[in-house]
Amino acid sequence: MKQRYLIGNLKMNVLSVEEADQYLSVFRREMKGRKQSITTTVIVPPFLYLERFQKALPEAVSLGAQDVFWEKEGSYTGEISPLMLKDIGVEYVIVGHSERRQYGHETNEEIAKKVQALLKWNLRPILCIGETAEERRRGETSSVLEAQLKGAFEGISSLHAEKMIIAYEPRWAIGSDQVPASEDILEAKVIIYRMIASVCGAPVAERISILYGGSVKANVLKQVCFDAQMDGVLIGRESLFPYEVAKIAEIIENYEATEREAVGR
Ligand code: PGA
Repeated sequence: MKQRYLIGNLKMNVLSVEEADQYLSVFRREMKGRKQSITTTVIVPPFLYLERFQKALPEAVSLGAQDVFWEKEGSYTGEISPLMLKDIGVEYVIVGHSERRQYGHETNEEIAKKVQALLKWNLRPILCIGETAEERRRGETSSVLEAQLKGAFEGISSLHAEKMIIAYEPRWAIGSDQVPASEDILEAKVIIYRMIASVCGAPVAERISILYGGSVKANVLKQVCFDAQMDGVLIGRESLFPYEVAKIAEIIENYEATEREAVGR
């Protein structure tokens, strides 16, 4: 049975220790007593507050990081090693986020190296991919997604491949309040599935979770997640409101539980 995911990327928000503690105390209150058996919720704070979040997140919630470097240690000023993340209890790491591709000029090759380093140290990569509005207009969505995926999957074992989580995040939908139609998201999912299946085989591709991200709010979940047959969502701005995180987690959990009951799974 495939797990569902809700990833909350706080980005470069939460600007002090005090704010971090406030967030955590409200979040704990909102999550109290909520049952999560199908949905894994992951909160991804800035590096500086990882330890604080690790100590105070509700037990059922996992910890993620926003990036990583591919080397284990050494003279790499400003970088964070996978081992450091592992040591403080991080389980998931976002790589290839469009903001890192844009502001950090990260290439697909560098992102593939990060993915491989994470897998080597038994951390789960959340690989973000997605086309720009211009690429979509030019009909290049499929080739862009394939290029973003290819390097990351090449040469990795099936066991490792299954640890990957893919977040399809069309760049034009991030931070814009524009969301694609369910059919367009599903079409992207099929492209992603086929690409993975061609490198790792269909059984592996079937087990990989594919999420949607970009301007997700509770009121568009049906469109961007359920109708589009995605395995969960990645939220940015909405993750800054603990109440919304708890609400979205609950909607996903309830929807999936009802669906599974209906089909007798
Ligand atoms: P948003 O961000 O939800 O604020 O659009 C999503 C993302 O960057 O992954």
